[in-house]
Amino acid sequence: EVVVLDFGGQYSQLIARRVRECGVYSELLPHHVGVEEVRRRKPKGLILSGGPASVYAEGAPRLDPELLELGIPVLGICYGMQLIARELGGRVEGAEVGEFGRSDLTVLEPGRLLAGTPAEQTCWMSHRDTVFSAPPGFTALASSTASPVAAIESQERDIYGIQFHPEVVHTPYGQHVLTTFLEDICGLDRSWSAASIVEEQIERIRAQVGDGRVICGLSGGVDSSVAALLVHRAVGDQLTCVFVDHGLMRKNEGEQVISAFRDHFKVPLVAVDAEERFLAKLKGVTEPEAKRKVIGAEFIRVFEEEAAKLSGAKFLVQGTLYSDVIESGGGTGAATIKSHHNVGGLPEDLEFELVEPLRALFKDEVRAVGAELGLPERLVWRQPFPGPGLAIRVVGGEATKERLDVLRDADAILQDEIRQAGLYRELWQSFCVLPDVRTVGVQGDERTYGYVVVIRAVTSDDAMTADWARLPYDLLEQIASRMINELREVNRVVLDITSKPPGTIEWE
Ligand code: XMP
Repeated sequence: EVVVLDFGGQYSQLIARRVRECGVYSELLPHHVGVEEVRRRKPKGLILSGGPASVYAEGAPRLDPELLELGIPVLGICYGMQLIARELGGRVEGAEVGEFGRSDLTVLEPGRLLAGTPAEQTCWMSHRDTVFSAPPGFTALASSTASPVAAIESQERDIYGIQFHPEVVHTPYGQHVLTTFLEDICGLDRSWSAASIVEEQIERIRAQVGDGRVICGLSGGVDSSVAALLVHRAVGDQLTCVFVDHGLMRKNEGEQVISAFRDHFKVPLVAVDAEERFLAKLKGVTEPEAKRKVIGAEFIRVFEEEAAKLSGAKFLVQGTLYSDVIESGGGTGAATIKSHHNVGGLPEDLEFELVEPLRALFKDEVRAVGAELGLPERLVWRQPFPGPGLAIRVVGGEATKERLDVLRDADAILQDEIRQAGLYRELWQSFCVLPDVRTVGVQGDERTYGYVVVIRAVTSDDAMTADWARLPYDLLEQIASRMINELREVNRVVLDITSKPPGTIEWE
């Protein structure tokens, strides 16, 4: 594997992902973990990421010189290269002008690192400090308009540095340079793939679980689905999945999950139809956070009841992803369950040992593993869906069965049209909202007084920010006309054109 040390750069996660795309397993660790932590992983290469600081500024993250003495190749990117240059006696200073965005790179001497790339190439830069002279014993491989030294290497010490960002798409030879580093310099064989992840995880799960019994809460989302399938591949019917249908799912969603897991994959599955229980609890509850709390608490109650029936289950499967691990403080911390964020998550005091087969994977890798395991395309590419489900989309009032059904039908039409238009994967989320509002209309010479359906469709990378999707007018018209013609209760359709911020993606 390769360790990427994160010095706070904007693209550190992306570096780790690009390395994996080259077929090499990589882990992202915070820069302060210490040499021992890095050594313990026995990496075959080390990458130092970019970062926002100036190497000579007080309090700036430093480079422990021992990291350069591990006997493995080291590649510094941007700030990472400046750290190396400064540590080994090169000259790094603030430049008059920064270099942000596209830049022209001239290769002076390709060396090992830039071998196979053209003498003139474009690359993407983002820095103000600049390396003015390479450390003694190093060769300056390239320069750019604003960087006298834009790449360095010392084959003798096996240390390399590039000022530009190889991980972004605007550096056309970026992936080439990374591959050179991994394959030719580190000698890695690039065999890491969805298939190898499956094999490795199956081994690990078997080793952890032995002949113990395992339980998994299945939500229908891609994470819990892939986690469950991996565990089932590993330990077969020692696994029981519990699927709680709270009646707040989208149309036919429960049936799809049940048929995929029980009928197709033959996974032992307990499906609990808890719609009435949830609706009873939601009676009179209108405040959004109160809805979340009621649903979260009831979910745990139902799950615990089912778990209690499966006597002897010692292990609990969680679909924790690598991004959750990184967010909660890097690869060294203990498991954290995001129960606060993810209604449908479970409390930490459940007496189970956690099985987390996705802990090392990014979302796109989870999808690749899902596809490898034969998970239907519909489940692999499912858009995110909030734990409290449609309850937080019948807004401004109580989630009654009647309103939920109208919303469910409207949502089914929207999904259908979005899929047919080939836009489903491009959108982060697309859904309907049903406000507690009726408006007057006229249909067939008659006055109507019906519901308004809101169309909400957004693009986003991580849900932290989002933009409203520019859906084609003709598609919008088709959606609106189907909703009004097919749903008796609906007589008006509107489009939400709010980005996040200032709006949130959901309305509640
Ligand atoms: P907002 O509305 O905050 O949503 O912009 C960001 C993302 O989180 C999802 N979301 C939830 N997911 N439980 C969940 O599991 C919740 O209570 C919840 N609220 C919002 C939302 O769908 C979007 O993807």
